Amino acid sequence: MRIIKNIDEMRAYSQKKKNHGKTIGFIPTMGCLHDGHLSLVQAAKKQADIVVVSIFVNPIQFGPGEDFKRYPKNLSNDKRLLNNFDIDVLFLPDTKKMFPQGFKTYLEVEEFSRKMCGRSRPNHFRGVTTIVAKLFCLVCPDFAFFGQKDFQQQLIIKTMVRDMDFPVEVVALPTVREFDGLAMSSRNRYLKPKERELATVLYKALCLAKEEIENGEKDLRKILIRMRSLIGTVPSIRLDYVVIADPETLEEVKAIKGKLLVALSGSIGKARLIDNLIVQAK
Ligand code: PAJ
Repeated sequence: MRIIKNIDEMRAYSQKKKNHGKTIGFIPTMGCLHDGHLSLVQAAKKQADIVVVSIFVNPIQFGPGEDFKRYPKNLSNDKRLLNNFDIDVLFLPDTKKMFPQGFKTYLEVEEFSRKMCGRSRPNHFRGVTTIVAKLFCLVCPDFAFFGQKDFQQQLIIKTMVRDMDFPVEVVALPTVREFDGLAMSSRNRYLKPKERELATVLYKALCLAKEEIENGEKDLRKILIRMRSLIGTVPSIRLDYVVIADPETLEEVKAIKGKLLVALSGSIGKARLIDNLIVQAK
C-alpha cells in the first residue's frame, strides 16, 4: 500500500494508471475506519483495478461548535486494516494544501442540502460536495463508493456528479450494523456504555415503521407518532428529526405508497447519530 500525501503526486499516480488502461475505485473517508468503511473497500476491490482510499477530516463540513477538533482519529489502526485489504493507495492530503489561504470556491447541491440533516447543519453538505469534488479531481476515479447509512449524502453526491458531468459512477452500498442493529459509525466511539445500549432505540424505531408500513398501515401520522413515542422512552436522546420521505426527492410524503425513505437523527451524550431504512409500501 502506497501512502500519498502530496496532491500533485496523487494526480500524477492516477493519470499514469489511467494511461495504462486501469480503472480506479475510490473510497473517501474521514478515517477511524470500521466494517462499514471496509465493506466499501471490499466492493471497490471487486469492481476496479486500482483502489484508492482517502482519509481526510474535512474542516469545511463541520459547523461551529461541532466535533471537528475532537473527531476520532486512529491512523495506525486504519493503516493496519487497509493493509489487510491490500489496497493500492492511502491518500492523506494535507489540510493546508487542500484549503490554502484565500480558498473561496464551494460547490452546493441546492434543495437537497437544506433538508433533513441540512436543517440543523446548514453548511454541512456544501462542505461535503466541495471536498468530494476536489478529491474526484485529484484521484480521477472511475467508481466512487458511498454508504447508504448517509443516504442524504450519497443522493447529494449522485446529483452533483450528474449535474457537473463528473466522469465517475457513484456506487451506494448497504448500511453495515452492529450485532444489535446500531448503524456502525466512527462517532459511536463517543458513546459511554449505557448510551451505546440506549442508542439502539433509533434502529428499533426505524424497524417499527418498516414493519407497520409493510403490514399495510396507511396512517402516516400514526407511524410517526409511534416512532417518536418509542424514541421518547429514552429521554437522554435529543431527537433532531424523523421523516418519511420520497427517496428520490427527500420531500416528506403525504401518503404511504411506493418506495419510502424512513430516516432520523438524534444525539445521545456527545454523539450525533443518523440512520435510515428504505421501505416498500404494500
Ligand atoms: P465517513 O463518515 O468516514 O464515511 C465514509 C464513507 O463510509 C461514507 O460513504 C459513509 O456513508 C460510509 N459509511 C459510514 N458508516 C457506514 C456503515 N455503517 N455502513 C456502510 N457505509 C458506511 O461520510 C464521510 O466520511 C464524509 O462526509 C466524506 C464523504 C468522506 C467527505 O468528507
